[in-house]
Amino acid sequence: MSIEQFDVVDLIHTKRDGGELETNEINWLVDAYTRGYVVPEQMAALSMAIFLNGMGRREIKDLTLAMIASGETMNFSGLGKVTVDKHSTGGVGDKITLPLMPLVAAFGVAVPQLSGRGLGHTGGTLDKLESIPGWRAELTNSQMFAQLRDIGGVICAAGAGLAPADKKLYALRDITGTVEAIPLIASSIMSKKIAEGTDSLVLDVKFGSGAFMKDIDRSRELAQTMVRLGTDAGVNTSALLTDMNVPLGLAIGNANEVRESVEVLSGGGPVDVVELTVALAREMLTLAGQPDADVEAALNDGRAMDVWRRSIIAQGGDPDAELPVSRETHTVRAETTGFVTDIKALPFGIGAWRLGAGRARPDDVVQHAAGIDLHVRPGDYVSVGQALFTLSADEPARFERALESVEGALSIGLEAPAVRPLIAEKIIAE
Ligand code: URA
Repeated sequence: MSIEQFDVVDLIHTKRDGGELETNEINWLVDAYTRGYVVPEQMAALSMAIFLNGMGRREIKDLTLAMIASGETMNFSGLGKVTVDKHSTGGVGDKITLPLMPLVAAFGVAVPQLSGRGLGHTGGTLDKLESIPGWRAELTNSQMFAQLRDIGGVICAAGAGLAPADKKLYALRDITGTVEAIPLIASSIMSKKIAEGTDSLVLDVKFGSGAFMKDIDRSRELAQTMVRLGTDAGVNTSALLTDMNVPLGLAIGNANEVRESVEVLSGGGPVDVVELTVALAREMLTLAGQPDADVEAALNDGRAMDVWRRSIIAQGGDPDAELPVSRETHTVRAETTGFVTDIKALPFGIGAWRLGAGRARPDDVVQHAAGIDLHVRPGDYVSVGQALFTLSADEPARFERALESVEGALSIGLEAPAVRPLIAEKIIAE
């Protein structure tokens, strides 16, 4: 493709004025941006025009395909197993990948979970697993294939070769206020998932205060867009819309989220984490042709735990090692008696991040023992002096800013709150 085939300023004008880009214009644009001919200022202007004016269905599909074409694609057909993957749009305390991968792999399907690190208040799966001494995220393609063949599941870092255009564009969106555009989020997520080559994909699309999409209507639109993109590309795709107003489970951080995941794999753990793990596993196994799989049994009888232990060992980790513990803790206690009426996800996510559990810049070092452990859930009745949550950090100086962020985020009242369903809707291909 000639690098001067189009004038990028014309394309910016088209989107700025509410027009549609043609397929060959989108192909050229993504290629020219990846190669550096279209400069970041121009792509930023275009992203903002897309943010403000949207994109049509055909344009979103073209953008996704162009981003896939910018890099390599993977192919698991040589494994002789059905492959099924899950992607979550991210939230506070979202450790579901950890128990889910071994649970689904226990049924003989292959689960390639190419994951990322956290940025900002939402945690990253790899950061959580790196709390396990020795565990390594970086695998070669052949190590990943061997693990999928021998153990059935792998959680590892996505290689830089998948959709490099997205990598570049996502970093730009992050610093130009253009992350929350449905066409850009959908094409970003789905380009990587389609390039990964999975047969089936279940999307966990979050809504609520701790999610990208604050309201359910926008999260439904995002889910429908992604399900359509996956289906059109031949990936069996469905989505669950799930509530992210309240943190998932009791642990928010890294090492504490691994501990909670191991509880789930031992047949225990918080009810909401178990509910979502089981629902996503059922959905994944249904797409993989096993709608009647007894998912709860595999959590309770140790089959999922067995896959977990083998996968941790295969990646150099010790599943029996002590997980890191912070040097300092600070517990917040109830000042009144009553029902816990709300625990807002976003302030608790920011609080854990300020304690050192997350990073503000890509090269920041995560403190694996830092985070927040909730001792109560909405609906619990508490008395004055009862422990509500504990902050953990290596440096006590971090407590003040973390406490500022969670100020008022846990409320206590006289009436029990209404119970909100965790799983609001299922979206399937039209
Ligand atoms: N995750 C992604 O990979 N891309 C987005 O745009 C948003 C979340």
